[in-house]
Amino acid sequence: MNLSRGTVVYGLGLATACVLLAAGVSAQVRPSGQPGDQKPQLSEDVFKNVRVLRGIPVKEFMGTMGFFSASLSLNCTDCHGGASASDWANYAIDTPLKNRTRQMMAMVKTINDANFGRRPSVTCYTCHRGSQRPKVIPSLAAQYGEPPADDPDEIEVLPGARQTAAPDQILDRYLQALGGAQALAKLTSVTAKGTYEGFDSDFVKVPVDVYAKAPNLRATVVHMTGGDATSTYDGREGWLAAPTTLAPVPLMPLVGADLGGARLDAQLFFPGQIAQLLTNWRADFPPATIDDQPVQVVQGSMPDGTRVKLYFDKASGLLVRQTRYATTAVGTIPTHIVYSDYRALPGVDVKIPFSWQVTWVDGQFTINVVSVQPNAAIDTARFARPAPPR
Ligand code: HEC
Ligand code: HEC
Repeated sequence: MNLSRGTVVYGLGLATACVLLAAGVSAQVRPSGQPGDQKPQLSEDVFKNVRVLRGIPVKEFMGTMGFFSASLSLNCTDCHGGASASDWANYAIDTPLKNRTRQMMAMVKTINDANFGRRPSVTCYTCHRGSQRPKVIPSLAAQYGEPPADDPDEIEVLPGARQTAAPDQILDRYLQALGGAQALAKLTSVTAKGTYEGFDSDFVKVPVDVYAKAPNLRATVVHMTGGDATSTYDGREGWLAAPTTLAPVPLMPLVGADLGGARLDAQLFFPGQIAQLLTNWRADFPPATIDDQPVQVVQGSMPDGTRVKLYFDKASGLLVRQTRYATTAVGTIPTHIVYSDYRALPGVDVKIPFSWQVTWVDGQFTINVVSVQPNAAIDTARFARPAPPR
């Protein structure tokens, strides 16, 4: 899939497709009746021309846009027209493909309601499979040719699968490979400088600062040419602040699966307690490989029920990938993070990945660490809600 710039932004260690949030959205994740409780910001409150995808949080609305893009291999501008690249307001203009998409959403709902007990068994991807026009005639070349390689993200537990490995063993081995539980317990913070490249930097390398503090605080500051883009997680809430050239609103609180993902990403800097971070662990997946290297797959659930798969290299025991999911109005969207270039930190004998790449349905970026200091004091204010950039 190719994506045009000027459309999607906001990567920054949070791996979300969901941006056009406005202040106040964080109320959505609090149980109702608490102080500060507000109505969640809904799609029709923020956007001008929403006719089908009404009544859903803005964050989920943006997830559906990513779902469309991924299912049909289209850029945002393919459906929204070239003018949308220059101004967020132009996304409201109707185009023939937008109108066709509205018809398709109604059709999919009818199919699922009538045949699949209202479950989302048929989605845009079921028919389109990454093409604008679904195929109708079976391909002999495909039938007799080499089957495409399995996508490790798509691996699922087979019905009646045999438990091939216990999650505990795999997780323990991972902690050993990082330096062991004792050494890990001595790592209390990570302060790193490196490079960031992604859709929102036009794939130009720009400087990035990463701060992490045990057990679950994290901040990433990307020095974009147009100003700093900052993501923070303070142990409870998370935010994204970005220049308006990159994001439609300057400060966005994280909600739902994105907030859970931000928490997990912060916690994974200090994975000594990894077994306690997720629930419903299972490891009875069929054998899988990533880039021809055998991996062991473990699955757990975040507190909001979102599934997370962790892929451990069979040879080294190290975590090489995390894949997690978020629900949208039209289907489930995946996000994956690839971890590589594990190196020992000076003084603490703990390894961390010096490179990670985040890919989601409407964006991708890579962070490479250049220099890192373990256990430096970091002011907690670093992780608080960032000031919106001008
Ligand atoms: C397959 C076509 C398609 C693609 C691809 C697509 N969209 Fe949309 N978009 C729509 C449709 C249809 C609507 C209107 C939904 C409705 O009426 O409920 C919409 C509405 C929107 C709106 C609301 C505009 C307003 O003010 O009313 C925004 C913002 C938006 N899309 C952004 C995006 C972004 C960003 C991408 C790329 C990640 C994207 N879209 C990709 C079809 C598409
Ligand atoms: C049951 C199969 C099926 C499903 C599910 C489906 N589509 Fe389609 N879609 C089609 C067919 C068939 C066409 C017509 C292709 C043609 O004209 O050759 C089409 C056409 C389209 C077109 C117009 C393409 C063009 O170039 O004119 C868009 C846009 C589209 N679909 C979007 C979607 C979206 C978004 C979803 C999910 C909400 C979806 N479709 C779900 C079968 C499906």
